Amino acid sequence: MTELDFKRHRRLRSSAGIRGMVRETHLHKEDLIYPIFVKEGNNIKNEVPSMPGVYQWSLDRLNEELTEIVDLGIASIIVFGVPAAKDDTGTSAYCNEGIVQQGIRQIKAQYPQLTVIADTCLCQFTDHGHCGVIEDGEILNDESLALLVKTAVSQVKAGADIIAPSNMMDGFVAAIRRGLDEAGFHNVPIMSYAVKYASSFYGPFRDAAHSSPQFGDRKTYQMDPANRLEALREARSDVEEGADFLIVKPALAYLDIIRDVKERHPLPIVAYNVSGEYSMVKAAAANGWIDEKSVVLEKLLSMKRAGADLILTYFAKDVVKWLDEK
Ligand code: PBG
Ligand code: ZN
Repeated sequence: MTELDFKRHRRLRSSAGIRGMVRETHLHKEDLIYPIFVKEGNNIKNEVPSMPGVYQWSLDRLNEELTEIVDLGIASIIVFGVPAAKDDTGTSAYCNEGIVQQGIRQIKAQYPQLTVIADTCLCQFTDHGHCGVIEDGEILNDESLALLVKTAVSQVKAGADIIAPSNMMDGFVAAIRRGLDEAGFHNVPIMSYAVKYASSFYGPFRDAAHSSPQFGDRKTYQMDPANRLEALREARSDVEEGADFLIVKPALAYLDIIRDVKERHPLPIVAYNVSGEYSMVKAAAANGWIDEKSVVLEKLLSMKRAGADLILTYFAKDVVKWLDEK
């Protein structure tokens, strides 16, 4: 035995105390951003069928959700709207009485300390379900930018603290930055969905937000899951255009991209743990096939290990409860 030469890695795993000392990555409450869906109408608390535990809320009942979030100590939310009416240019996305604008005003009036992020896109508000305006079946880039800017400015006027554009038109950060600056909102940061893949993991969200495209798909604006260099180009141009945060979406199947983006850009990086990633865990847990808590904590930890500073996740409330248990 004296001839054997090897390293004893297990020394640093030999007790919970030592494992705690050498743990390299931690999940904190402050890392979490919780998505909420506000729906036009009254007395609505609709559970999204494909997302157990996630609800659409009408504004008269939203407080049930907000008090829970605030009591748990969650510091930031991202707001998605489910409007009553849609049209071909998504008018209700940038109308001052739109459901998102009303929701943000209400949230900020009651909980000024909560950081409210507005998802800025058109797909929930267009009758065709695409993220931009359409001519002859084509999603127009520059024409869509103008509407996106109007949406962002109206959201900030309503009280949004951060704008998160998600429609993947080229130049959206530049256009929104200029629009916000011209409106006097120099201090409102842009959390860009810089790297957003055309992913099948968004399926349950589209149930939640009623935002499925009515024809075609999103592959002419969202990215090809096969591409890595393209993600680096997307992130770089958004940084050059003035993004303050960079989102990589989805998260779990794209941890390599999170790492790549983090290594190149000294900005806060946000992993979007998307709806399909949530639903898979919920379904497996409901069947008793996995242990939900440990699987979720392991997944979110892996996003932080990959380089994410923040995680947008439907699990935020559960995670905070689990972290508080410890
Ligand atoms: C809208 C938007 C989507 C998501 C966030 N913002 C859907 C899409 O692009 O199709 C997906 C979120 C999720 O799946 O949790 N542009
Ligand atoms: Zn969209």
